[in-house]
Amino acid sequence: MEPRARGEGARARARSGGRGRGAHPPRRAGRAAGRLLTLPPAVRLAGVEKRFGARAALEGADLVVAAGEVHALLGENGAGKTTLVNVLAGLVRPDAGRLEIGGRAVDLRRFGPRAARVAGVGMVHQHSTLVPAFTVEENLAFADPAAGRWFRPRAARARVEALRARYGLDAPLGVRAESLSVGQRQRAEILRALDRGARVLVLDEPTAVLTPGEVRALLPVLRQLAASGCGVVFISHKLDEIRAVADRITVLRRGRGVGTVATAATDARSLGRMMLGRELDALAPRRAAAARGPVLLALRGLCAPGLREGSALRDLELEVRAGEIVGVAGIDGNGQRELEEVLAGVRRPSAGSVEVAGAPVPLGARALRARGVAHLSGDRERAGLVAAMSVAENLLLKATWDDRRFFRRGRFDAEAAARHARACIEAFGIVPPDPERAVGLLSGGNAQKVAVARELAERPRVLVAVNPTRGLDVGSARFVHERLLALRDAGSAIALVSTELDEVLALSDRAVALVRGRLVPLPDGADRDAIGAVLLGEAPGVAAA
Ligand SMILES: Nc1ncnc2c1ncn2[C@@H]1O[C@H](COP(=O)(O)OP(=O)(O)OP(=O)(O)O)[C@@H](O)[C@H]1O
Ligand SMILES: [Mg+2]
Repeated sequence: MEPRARGEGARARARSGGRGRGAHPPRRAGRAAGRLLTLPPAVRLAGVEKRFGARAALEGADLVVAAGEVHALLGENGAGKTTLVNVLAGLVRPDAGRLEIGGRAVDLRRFGPRAARVAGVGMVHQHSTLVPAFTVEENLAFADPAAGRWFRPRAARARVEALRARYGLDAPLGVRAESLSVGQRQRAEILRALDRGARVLVLDEPTAVLTPGEVRALLPVLRQLAASGCGVVFISHKLDEIRAVADRITVLRRGRGVGTVATAATDARSLGRMMLGRELDALAPRRAAAARGPVLLALRGLCAPGLREGSALRDLELEVRAGEIVGVAGIDGNGQRELEEVLAGVRRPSAGSVEVAGAPVPLGARALRARGVAHLSGDRERAGLVAAMSVAENLLLKATWDDRRFFRRGRFDAEAAARHARACIEAFGIVPPDPERAVGLLSGGNAQKVAVARELAERPRVLVAVNPTRGLDVGSARFVHERLLALRDAGSAIALVSTELDEVLALSDRAVALVRGRLVPLPDGADRDAIGAVLLGEAPGVAAA
């Protein structure tokens, strides 16, 4: 482990205008908490309070992150995790509380995103904030306070390359951000934060949008950052990731810190109890399907063009019967999005057909919906919800004039719509229970519940669920799983396309995998290595044709 000073240290000092702000003393890296305690913490947040209107998002939350550790933040949807890290990044001004960065007190009344950057706080948002038309190196130079007036491509490249090599972060240079994969964009954002001299790096649910392989690649990078003396704040709903990467875990419940524990000294059960105030197994108990009925959804020789190489759909054959859940496992980029888009009616197949209850359907969003096909997407930003619209409006989003629930003789019945919104909020536990609130102001998980409520409330005949629990905490995910099982038991046919293998295995009556655009059988039993090999296309018979 090397003492940090040299290159970026000097850069960070230069950036802070030579006044010493944000230039922390060199730190020795180390994982042992004992050694870390002798240094000032990278971050100390104490007694943070924040209200949004009548709602308290934070009520006296604390967070102490040591330099050189990965510190996980865990809590239910709406517990205040994002709000707390936004305070640290200068994006939310708290009503009360104290903040120290690298042992220096910060005046929160005059703290903003720029001051946070100068103080060494880097934030990696879940959704890319890169300029799509710029390359990685241009993005790094863009709005860089330390950059001169002119963009110097060679120097920019050299800087990025040095960081890339040091942290094992692979983001291609010379390529526009818009054509990068989600994982590459995220790595570019981390590079940008490091390039600006970040000593504290905050990642808000970075893994929610990554493939399993990308997650496996990201976690060692976080360890490497910590080893170089950074304080890393890592938010995730996935306990296995947290246990793999975090030194300590702070649990938030309803805006308050419940406690901070060393990862090695705790287990999933007690974390669950801290988080929820009760015990809960992550997955709903498995129940076998009662009776299967006729085939309600069928893909017949379905082919569709792909967004990239290897993701074109090739000759898919699949039947889903009434009363069963058919799981489609797989890693993103193997045709998952293409299949979702075809079944949502927004991508035209090049051959083959989709049948609902035995009859081919014209593939358009309205036609599918009219035949009772609902579409629940985990990609709420792109496919599920309109952030600027209220909860009530989002619940109505797919209703048409012939929807008897909201229209009487072609006239919109506002009272019925309001009743429906209140019922959904109640039934699906959407917090806060305010139908007029814009969905963009809900926590990520509560926004996802709005999409779930809209698609499930109607009891669709066929449900296409794609990553339905993305971003949900364990309690909410389990709730959705139970709703899916109940829908199945009520006789609906469910196609569950998920990149989460556990979800597929736990819920499906039958499962296949979508690999390089083809459906292939999953090996029987719970041999994860064998399943993993199939998903990665390594098993015999799956090789690209
Ligand atoms: N800008 C805002 N305006 C109004 N309310 C907000 C705003 N931001 C957050 N809230 C509310 O504050 C509470 C905490 O939200 P926050 O996003 O911090 O939760 P979270 O722990 O990150 O949840 P999730 O796991 O779902 O992402 C939520 O009830 C949310 O609705
Ligand atoms: Mg959040």
